[in-house]
Amino acid sequence: MKILLSSVLVLFLVGCGSQDENKAVKKVEETKIEVKEEVVPKEKKIITNVATTGKSLFATCSSCHGVNAEKKALGKSQVIKDWDAAKIAKALNGYKDGTYGGAMKGIMKGQASKLSKEDIEKLSKYISKL
Ligand code: HEC
Repeated sequence: MKILLSSVLVLFLVGCGSQDENKAVKKVEETKIEVKEEVVPKEKKIITNVATTGKSLFATCSSCHGVNAEKKALGKSQVIKDWDAAKIAKALNGYKDGTYGGAMKGIMKGQASKLSKEDIEKLSKYISKL
């Protein structure tokens, strides 16, 4: 009888214990969710801001021109590192309207026509400082 009583007690205690644990887990989950909701919109904001800087615009270009604009793109272009901003902007605008370029200008026309006037200004400044 004693044994039975104590095992019932133990079960009771274990039952209580796990209930408390469940509550604790729920609390932790609730806190996690709250934090997530706060973080996500902030991250989205940061991403949209970054998308309009010279650095983020240059991410597409660096695959051909090198991260520091130090490469001949596809082994053909001039190295644009150390070009001043005006020269870069002139080239990009020229690719856009067809007044600039060498044998492979078709590739750059595709790239430059995606850029707005503002993008070209930001990119030119960024590249000239690399
Ligand atoms: C797919 C590879 C590729 C990508 C991506 C690319 N370029 Fe180019 N770029 C070239 C090639 C090839 C040339 C040479 C084109 C020619 O014959 O005039 C060139 C030329 C240039 C020139 C003039 C250099 C010269 O030789 O007269 C500038 C400035 C330039 N690119 C900037 C950019 C910028 C800024 C971006 C990103 C928006 C970019 N490029 C993306 C391949 C690329």
